[in-house]
Formats: sequence, structure tokens, C-alpha cells
Amino acid sequence: MKPKLRPRVPHFSSGPCAKRPGWNPVALQDACVGRSHRSQAGKAKLAEVIERSRAILGLPEPYRLGIVPASDTGAVEMALWSLLGARGVDVLTWESFGQGWATDATRQLKLDDVRILAADYGRLPELDRVDFARDVVFTWNGTTSGVAVPDGEWIAADREGLVICDATSAAFAMDLPWEKLDVVTYSWQKVLGGEAQHGILILGPRAVERLESYVPPWPLPKIFRLTKGGALNEGIFRGETINTPSMLCVEDALDGLRWAEEIGGLPVLQARARDNLAAVAAWVARTGWIDFLAEAPETRSCTSICLRIGEPGLDEDGQKAVAGDIVTALADEGVAYDIGSYREAPPGLRIWGGATVERTDIEALLPWLDWAYARAAERRLRPAETKTA
Ligand SMILES: Cc1ncc(COP(=O)(O)O)c(C=O)c1O
Repeated sequence: MKPKLRPRVPHFSSGPCAKRPGWNPVALQDACVGRSHRSQAGKAKLAEVIERSRAILGLPEPYRLGIVPASDTGAVEMALWSLLGARGVDVLTWESFGQGWATDATRQLKLDDVRILAADYGRLPELDRVDFARDVVFTWNGTTSGVAVPDGEWIAADREGLVICDATSAAFAMDLPWEKLDVVTYSWQKVLGGEAQHGILILGPRAVERLESYVPPWPLPKIFRLTKGGALNEGIFRGETINTPSMLCVEDALDGLRWAEEIGGLPVLQARARDNLAAVAAWVARTGWIDFLAEAPETRSCTSICLRIGEPGLDEDGQKAVAGDIVTALADEGVAYDIGSYREAPPGLRIWGGATVERTDIEALLPWLDWAYARAAERRLRPAETKTA
């Protein structure tokens, strides 16, 4: 039987993520469009994004937060290309995005002292092997495996190297210990449901010190340049963007930030994501055919919740077929969109649980997953009959 209740919003994609509850394009009506982003009005909007983001995140005063081109990828690449090479680097990888940053270090920047600390999908690398005399690059939440570091306890407070953290699917949903992180990046399209386009680059004092004392041996395109005449380009962190931003995206980011403030700020954003994970976890616990991809409960992401088909005896091709059937059936029903696992990840489901997703929508989705699974299982048992049915 098809469940009666449907999620009110069927958007469970892990990026771009669901807009905040009640969003509609009227939210953009005050956008500073048709004006220069260097006008007083344009700069004020950009500065407002910076100020509100800092306040909600609780960023310590010496940390800078700037708006940069090319979304989270742009922000991470700027950091890697501007900062790496001064000392050896440990790159932690446990899913596709971390692997991408490792490729940058080895094949693009061709650094000669790189250690890759890798783990398979579902696990974290051995964090106690990280050497903080070196630079460290890692992804706080592995969006494609649903495995996140549980905290920053493993990061040395008295480190010599820089810690560079891609936090795009963690920021606003998970606690980030700023004093342990020298560079943090994210994009607007994740936990606050903004439009994709721009990245946020956060620099701690130690990263600024590196920028002002080290010049990498490779050329830096204009779009990556964080310094001017050997000093940090402070303008970037006041809203004087390197190139032209989309003022529509800026307005949308402001809408998300204002919403975040209205509902109670960071603690409420985090609680919403935690509650969404709890709803999924309770269902997984009582459901035989599904498991978390993350093996250790404390590493389970509360944003990109990754699940594998846990039916006993089903091989990888079978799991892929079942997951595919579920994804297609629920999209056809208009109940859930974009819930398939990432193309490079093991087959399964991925449900976004970030702050813009309502727990009631997650709860309404779960019986539909059971329904779609039962339908897929029935088809497997009786392919001919169900094809004509
Ligand atoms: C961990 C991680 N890093 C980087 C990216 C790339 O982000 P963007 O497409 O915003 O550049 C994503 C996108 O999902 C991600 O999840």
C-alpha cells in the first residue's frame, strides 16, 4: 500500500539543497541587481553577508571571512594553490571530494612531500597518524560517504603546519572548533539552502601569516590571488570581491542567513540536522533492508545521510538495482528527488538532513522508502508478472 502522507517538500538533494521552509522567489525582491557590486549599495549587501555569516558561525575576531569565486571548489583551490608547498602535507581522504584534493596536491601541484591517509567509503582514516608538523588537508563531512569527523579533538592545538578544512556540508550543521582550523571553506548551496555560485573562504591568523611570508613557486591565476604586494588583500574580507558576484545569489544568501537568525541561530540549525539524522537512525534501527554506510555511529553525518542496501545476500549489482528502483519510483511519485548515492560512491541512498529540511518531511519519506523497496523486491521475485501489472 502506498503511504498516504507525502513529504511537503520532496527536496532531499545533497547539493544544491532544499531552500529554507517557505522560500519563494519574492525573497529576492530586494536584490541589488542592475547595479555595480562596487557601488555603495552593492558593497553593503556583500558586507552584510560577511557580517551575518560571521555572527551566526561565532567566528573569532582575528579570523577573516570572504566571498570568493567558484563555490566551495573555488575556495578550496584558492587555499591549496596559495598555501601548500611550504612544508610537507598530509591529505586525508575517505570519499570522492577528499580524493579530489589529494589529486591537486600530487598531480596538479606535484608537491614532493605528500602523504595520503586514505580510508574506504564508510570509514575514517587513522586520525592518530596525522602529523601536525606538516600541513593537513581534510574534508569535515565527506558528503559522498556520509562520514564526518566526530569532533576536532584529534587536531593538535600546538600544530606547526596549517589545517585546511573543506567544511562545505558541515558548516552551520556541525560544531567547528575554529581555533583548531586555519582555513575553512564552504558554499551557500548546502546547509542554508542558498544558490550555488560563490564560495566562502575563512582564514585564521596562521594562514594569513603563511600567505604573507610564502610565495608558491607556481603561477597563480588572478582568481586565486589573496595577496597584493606581499600583504593580504583585506578588501576581499570586506566584500570587495576579486571579480563580479551574482547579486541575486548574494540576496538569496542573505535570505538564508536572516532565516537562520530568526529561528534561533547556530544551535537551532544544528539541532534541526541532528533531529533529522535521529529520525533516519530510528528507522534504520527497525528496518532490516537498510544500513548506514558509516560504520561507526559517532561518524554518521547529520547532513549527507548515506545508506546502503543491507539486504542479506544481495551483491553489489543487486544493491545498485534496488537503489536505482527506489530512486526512480520516488522521483516518479514526486515524493523524493535526488536521493541516489553519488556516482563514485557505493550504491545506495543519500538523504540530505541539513537545517532547511523539515523533520516531518524526513518522517513522511521513510514509509515511502519501505514501500519502494517492497515494490522492488516483488519485481525481483516476479519480474514477468509485475511488468505487465
Ligand atoms: C565535501 C565537498 N567538497 C566540495 C564540493 C564541491 O562544492 P561546489 O560544487 O560547491 O564547488 C562538494 C559538493 O557537494 C562537497 O560536498
